Amino acid sequence: MLKLDLVKISGVEVLPLVEGGKGISISTGETCGAWASAGGVGTFSAVNADSYDENGKIIPQIYRGRSRLERRQELIDYAVAGGIAQAKIARERSNGKGRIHMNVLWEMGACEEILFRILEGAKGCVHAIVCGAGMPYNLGEIASQFGVYYYPIVSSARAFSALFRRSFKKARDFLGGVVYEDPWLAGGHNGLSNAEDPLKPLNPYLRLVELRKTMDNFSLQTTPIIIAGGVWWLSEWEDYVDNKELGLTAFQFGTRSILTTECPVAKTWQPKLMSLKKGDVKLTPLSPTGFYSSAIGNKMLTDLLELQDRQVDIVEDSPLKIIASGREVSIDVSRSEEVNSWIKNGFSAAMSTPSQTVIFATPEQSKRILSDQRSCCGCLSACRFSSWCQNGGSLGKIPDPRSFCIQKSLQAAAHGGDLDASLIFAGHSAYRFGEDPFYANNFIPTTQQLVDRIMTGY
Ligand SMILES: Cc1cc2nc3c(=O)[nH]c(=O)nc-3n(C[C@H](O)[C@H](O)[C@H](O)COP(=O)(O)O)c2cc1C
Ligand code: SF4
Repeated sequence: MLKLDLVKISGVEVLPLVEGGKGISISTGETCGAWASAGGVGTFSAVNADSYDENGKIIPQIYRGRSRLERRQELIDYAVAGGIAQAKIARERSNGKGRIHMNVLWEMGACEEILFRILEGAKGCVHAIVCGAGMPYNLGEIASQFGVYYYPIVSSARAFSALFRRSFKKARDFLGGVVYEDPWLAGGHNGLSNAEDPLKPLNPYLRLVELRKTMDNFSLQTTPIIIAGGVWWLSEWEDYVDNKELGLTAFQFGTRSILTTECPVAKTWQPKLMSLKKGDVKLTPLSPTGFYSSAIGNKMLTDLLELQDRQVDIVEDSPLKIIASGREVSIDVSRSEEVNSWIKNGFSAAMSTPSQTVIFATPEQSKRILSDQRSCCGCLSACRFSSWCQNGGSLGKIPDPRSFCIQKSLQAAAHGGDLDASLIFAGHSAYRFGEDPFYANNFIPTTQQLVDRIMTGY
């Protein structure tokens, strides 16, 4: 049995084991309440979470509005109802134990309004807000208004320093901890900076030491760092516990916590997760948010990567002219052989991109892309796929067909859609499900069983 001290998180002493928040509808009130009830920290996702009708059935998020703005309002209302529903379930299931954290994406559409309305509607249920994907400068202020803690998710000391200097210092009493999410290991969106190479992972220990030094400089010695990304067996992380250079630490389990009986996708995702081999999770820049993200390399991702490969530059003038997105453009004549072979093989629909290039899709792909862009409901603050921007309605660029509607794709992954055609976020250690004897014979543990197992070091 590993010796793990309790750590004060969001005001109480708990096991230093944290459920990674997972949208859409992967970490829920049920999973969060179960982690809290097991003595740790549960995290439900408040990103377009499910709400339920009077019979306890999930209310499908169907959009009836004719304009994007009308659909966006529907989305906000769904998100608020879902967040409140999940917070209340978490509270009930936790039996008053552990802590209940709520995860949001700073770059989700109307993030601040949604946070306000959920915290208002679920008063007393949520102990903290955990927020990543972007620079959540207003997070501390919002949390302190509601008397709850906040946890920024960062991937470098530099990002934390910028946040603290500019705003968190004014709300330091409510800063519960800092989540360090390793950008080369963690599932979901990843905080790689422009200067970092997706193919050259850096040592997480050194990055954590740097983060701790930065926090010490701000007199945050007693504020825990929650380590996320690639955490599986704690026996492999013994050097990160009781370590003077790192100070107080806790561990976050994002991918591993998917396979629990409380998680709504455990059964449907299990065959895929169990079959993964090392390297099957891909770190790509395809998300419409503009961030890198880590997901299972299924048909959907492969199709998108191939779409990028069937791409040529638009040039000022050339004898090779085609109709792309309804407009005649000249393209690089040196690529004519490739272009002809793509068209011959069915990729005959040319679509313009905002990078002055043209991609070649099948007519079905092109139809789906255009239809997804048209039915956008503004789920992000800015989306390169539809060119939606919540400030002013448009990014002022043409929509980018090389990305996809993440809202539609994540909703499908969580609600019984085709797993080969949806985005399945996963961390780079997900292949370990198939190797870890704990999951032999397709065993799915309860959260309590998983927490007990983690406490043994394995
Ligand atoms: C399916 C899935 C969905 C995720 N969604 C979110 C999310 O909505 N917000 C967030 O902050 N992190 C999200 N994450 C990241 C996790 O919270 C966690 O930090 C990360 O998975 C840790 O790395 P690991 O996967 O190696 O355990 C997601 C991860 C997965 C696997
Ligand atoms: S197109 Fe972009 S902003 Fe619109 S719903 Fe899809 S992911 Fe969200």
